Amino acid sequence: MSSELQQTFSGQGFAVLPGFRNAAQIASIRQRARELVDAYEPDGEQAVFSTQEQQRRVNDYFLGSAQTIRCFLEEEALDANGRLRQDKALSINKIGHAMHDLDPVFERFSHGSDLAAVAQDVGLLRPLVWQSMYIFKQPAIGGEVRWHQDASFFVTTPLSVTTFWFALEDAHQGNGCLWVQPGGHRGPLREQFVRSGDAAAITPLDATPWPNLHEAQPLEVSAGTLVVFHGLLPHYSGPNRSAHSRHAYTLHATDARATYAPENWLQRSRALPPRGFV
Ligand code: FE2
Repeated sequence: MSSELQQTFSGQGFAVLPGFRNAAQIASIRQRARELVDAYEPDGEQAVFSTQEQQRRVNDYFLGSAQTIRCFLEEEALDANGRLRQDKALSINKIGHAMHDLDPVFERFSHGSDLAAVAQDVGLLRPLVWQSMYIFKQPAIGGEVRWHQDASFFVTTPLSVTTFWFALEDAHQGNGCLWVQPGGHRGPLREQFVRSGDAAAITPLDATPWPNLHEAQPLEVSAGTLVVFHGLLPHYSGPNRSAHSRHAYTLHATDARATYAPENWLQRSRALPPRGFV
């Protein structure tokens, strides 16, 4: 990465690197994601949560995904009786959260000296990759992801979390691309996702409003592009009402020199410690 990109990252809070992954690399994790979805049997653990028991199961399913690989359904995927409205492969919201450590195909995609070099350039001198997510943004039902900052989910002291967002398909406004607030990483952390026991919830920290769309920039990027962004950068993505999916893959890394908060939802056991990019 050039010093020009370093400057872009520190000035804007993000940098766009086209052609970071090639078509064969993208095809490999798309195929693997298909296989994981094929093997997934929705057993109602995410059924419409009308009772406390269902809420508890949703929490367990989510929190338990920290050290394994699980599929998550789109909110609009189930009907009132908790049955899939459409084909399973078109109903998945995402897969998370430890593919990069547990699945050889995802592991290959998620590591390498090229990623380590980008991490260095954006100031992650000792990166630890905590989380991987394969995001489907399905045609027609792909949901909006409201404005947020990824640092809300990965608090460290000092703050260090950085997002590595790979476009696996062309992303544009029609299929729900990312929107960012250039320079917004200089603002405060507005919320923290705090785990306590078997539950986790958003806690407000700062009342600074989220940007409006005039302050935001759509990141229309082609497949293979890596967008690397600062943990405080406000970002959002609209719903996908188009006929085409918008697959993306993300990694979240912190710096081992910073202290990882014990109240972060994602914790690793000694058997599966977070690793770097190489
Ligand atoms: Fe995010």
